[in-house]
Amino acid sequence: MIFGVDYYPEHWDRSEWEKQAKLMREGNFNTVRMGEFAWKLFEKHEGEFDFSLFDEVIEILGREGIKVILGTPTAAPPKWLVNKYDVLQRDRYGRKKEWGSRRECCANSPDYLEKSRIIVEEMAKHYKDNPNIIAWQIDNEFGCHGSTRCYCENCRRAFGQWLSKKYGSIDYLNKKWGSIFWSLDYDSFDDIILPGYNSCEDERFPNFAHNPSLDLEYRRFASDSWVKYQKIQIDIIKKYTDLPVTHNLMGHFSDIDYYKLSKDLDFVSWDNYPDNQWGDSEYEYVSMAHENMRGLKNKNFVVMEEQAGPAGWDMVGSTPRPGQLRLWTYQAIAHGAEGIVYFRFRTALFGMEQYWFGVLDHDGVPRRRFYEIQKTGAELMKLKDYIIGAENKYDALIVKTYDNVWSHEIKRHTSKYDYRNLLYAYYKANADLNINTAVSTGNYEKYKVVYMPSYNIVENDEIHKIKKYVQNGGVLVLTFRSGTRDTYNNMLPMAVPGVFGELAGIEVEEFDALRREVRVCGAVSGTAKIWCDIIKPVSAETLCVYDGEYYKDRAAVTVNSYGKGKVYYIGCDLNHEAMVKLIEFISKDAGISPVYTPSGVEVIKREGYTILLNHNEYEVNLSIKGRSLITDKDFDGLLEGYGVEFIV
Ligand code: GAL
Repeated sequence: MIFGVDYYPEHWDRSEWEKQAKLMREGNFNTVRMGEFAWKLFEKHEGEFDFSLFDEVIEILGREGIKVILGTPTAAPPKWLVNKYDVLQRDRYGRKKEWGSRRECCANSPDYLEKSRIIVEEMAKHYKDNPNIIAWQIDNEFGCHGSTRCYCENCRRAFGQWLSKKYGSIDYLNKKWGSIFWSLDYDSFDDIILPGYNSCEDERFPNFAHNPSLDLEYRRFASDSWVKYQKIQIDIIKKYTDLPVTHNLMGHFSDIDYYKLSKDLDFVSWDNYPDNQWGDSEYEYVSMAHENMRGLKNKNFVVMEEQAGPAGWDMVGSTPRPGQLRLWTYQAIAHGAEGIVYFRFRTALFGMEQYWFGVLDHDGVPRRRFYEIQKTGAELMKLKDYIIGAENKYDALIVKTYDNVWSHEIKRHTSKYDYRNLLYAYYKANADLNINTAVSTGNYEKYKVVYMPSYNIVENDEIHKIKKYVQNGGVLVLTFRSGTRDTYNNMLPMAVPGVFGELAGIEVEEFDALRREVRVCGAVSGTAKIWCDIIKPVSAETLCVYDGEYYKDRAAVTVNSYGKGKVYYIGCDLNHEAMVKLIEFISKDAGISPVYTPSGVEVIKREGYTILLNHNEYEVNLSIKGRSLITDKDFDGLLEGYGVEFIV
């Protein structure tokens, strides 16, 4: 089982390496991830390669029994590259991004591609037979710092070619995009523009001044560009070695289609920082991010950067409390991680991330965080047979697609609407009832309930799969803003919920983007703040109605029988308490048993054992008892603050 640290030997004097490697072993670490920003070190000047520093470090680590995940260094282009070649991204105002940070290169720059190929090939050739290397990481966090979409001439040209391949003829594209609107017909694929700054835009309306088809296709193209860029590197590495290849993804981040990006990877890994300068995360939000990552390949994953201390760039975030680093580690494992790498071993003395604290502080002296992680490592080695290959028993699925993220970002419906928040509201309500919920797409048959909140762009083959799932007895939950767009991001000439109308057995006659709260009552009671669909049931039954506005007593939530299954339609947003009640109602109806605990506690059931996580700082008393696999003692239900248990 991978238990490691992210390491930057190039930041430390040679005299430190041996000491650091010994300390790593003492900390129970067996792996380091390194190399992902070391381009300048490997290729000091164009074409001059030198891997001697890493060779030495890898050998030192090897002597301590520590293996290496080696990163390709293309996230940090050296100055000679940007001096000589035009590789830097342009923003949507056409401004060149300045070199001096990282991730500033364009995925469609032929020179960046060529120089990336060369450095990756040199590395792969050099390290192909090194027995201490166990895996490769491609680049670092594609899309980080808003770098997915570039607006340079290379991108414009490549976008035209991408569209030409997809649409075949420009007339067909014009027809599908409705380019006739405002005389936007193109005469050829060479005319294609990028959705950058234009005359409709001002400070109040920064980013929705383009044809929605163009905007969506451009997001798909930009995402594909990184998928393609990654594949170039993977193919080179695979020429020389069979070692597994990964990339470190970013959880909820959604500018890149992570299903496509992870398809080419042997395993998914990702970077998890629950509390940092920009705020503390709710524990359910972190759990959902883990599930999102697991759901990409429906396979267990590795956390390649796990928070190890207070974290920030110019300011620090909150200090992880005693027990929290251990708790976050187990939380990752409970949601499918089977390897953990902490960021970073020792806190940097220089550079941007002086305040991003690692396992060790600036002085390199082991203290509380080191010992907590060390203890966690020892426990995990004992538990590893329970962890590797373990699969949660999922009852529910929340469907997330990147096309839907982008479509809802392009046309946001109202200023209060946020697709990803809506998905999270459904995840959180399920999590608070301890219903194991996957975040993924497809394979509906595996789940008792499938949630498709605001599932707006529905591809033709998808609707057949969904119908079949319900026909065969599945329970489908749809919400407002579902089923109304085609794959080109155009509206369908159908009553809402469009292609879902027959399944839901309703017609939405009107809607209200809310100015003030509206009460909802019936099977559950609560309030809507964002949106109300005014529903006419056709074959569906009404479960809740509105209690206010001109649509008082009109249907807000309905259920329809379809084949052997059921379709719920939730026409409005709901406050969290009401959501929990509604999810409880739906789940019980679908044969799922919620597990009730004090708030802040997670219960995850697995084949043969149950994981308990207490995210509260205080002790809780649970009705779950048994034998602890961690302590080998009886567990009486009392779980300490930030405590963890594996119970049989
Ligand atoms: C991650 C990144 C690391 C480091 C860390 C702390 O996003 O992959 O290289 O920058 O954040 O800022």
